[in-house]
Amino acid sequence: MTTDHSIENTRIPEYDVDPLFIERWSPRSFTDKEIPKQVLHSVLEAAKWAPSASNWQPWRFIIAQTKADREKFHSFIFDSNRAWCEQAPVLILFISKKTMPDGRPNPFHQMDTGAAWASIAFQAKMLGLATHGMGGFDREKAREVLEVPDEYEINHIAAIGYQGAAEALPEQFREREKPSSRNPLSEIVFEGEFGREVEGI
Ligand SMILES: Cc1cc2nc3c(=O)[nH]c(=O)nc-3n(C[C@H](O)[C@H](O)[C@H](O)COP(=O)(O)O)c2cc1C
Repeated sequence: MTTDHSIENTRIPEYDVDPLFIERWSPRSFTDKEIPKQVLHSVLEAAKWAPSASNWQPWRFIIAQTKADREKFHSFIFDSNRAWCEQAPVLILFISKKTMPDGRPNPFHQMDTGAAWASIAFQAKMLGLATHGMGGFDREKAREVLEVPDEYEINHIAAIGYQGAAEALPEQFREREKPSSRNPLSEIVFEGEFGREVEGI
């Protein structure tokens, strides 16, 4: 049972599901508490075990935890995200190798890297950490600053750390500091062909 009442009110599952899936959400407020190395490494270990097409494991993670490295990330994150993510003790850039071992394009590199991101988000939650994904940053600048080779796609950045109080956020983010809900299964699952309702779902 969750003790977070904002979750009880906005996240009502339609079917039984492990509370982990309901209780993970993306706050923007982080405390300045550092993430112990062992804990961060466990979170990254979870990503390593994600499934991928032909087990090619196209994901790569560039982490920023020192002040200098985090400042490099801040230089290409848009102001609307930098305003809150500067507090996060660790930032992770998710990149993915675009080609298969034979050099042809791998159509699954982003899907697989998304699976690794989900593993990170859930493992982090299990260890008492919060994560928040970000697409709002300058990809070309990120490539340049972090010297990412062209054969890797720049995907997204995740902020990770211990959740802070909503009151600690800049004013414009406080109202939004709560878990969101989801579309019902009846809108996202089809039976047999696109658009056909699943009876009884
Ligand atoms: C790829 C991706 C990009 C996102 N970009 C941003 C962003 O630039 N800024 C932001 O505040 N949140 C961003 N988010 C967070 C989403 O808005 C959030 O995950 C979504 O609203 C669902 O809420 P929840 O994670 O709390 O369940 C992003 C999430 C993902 C997965």
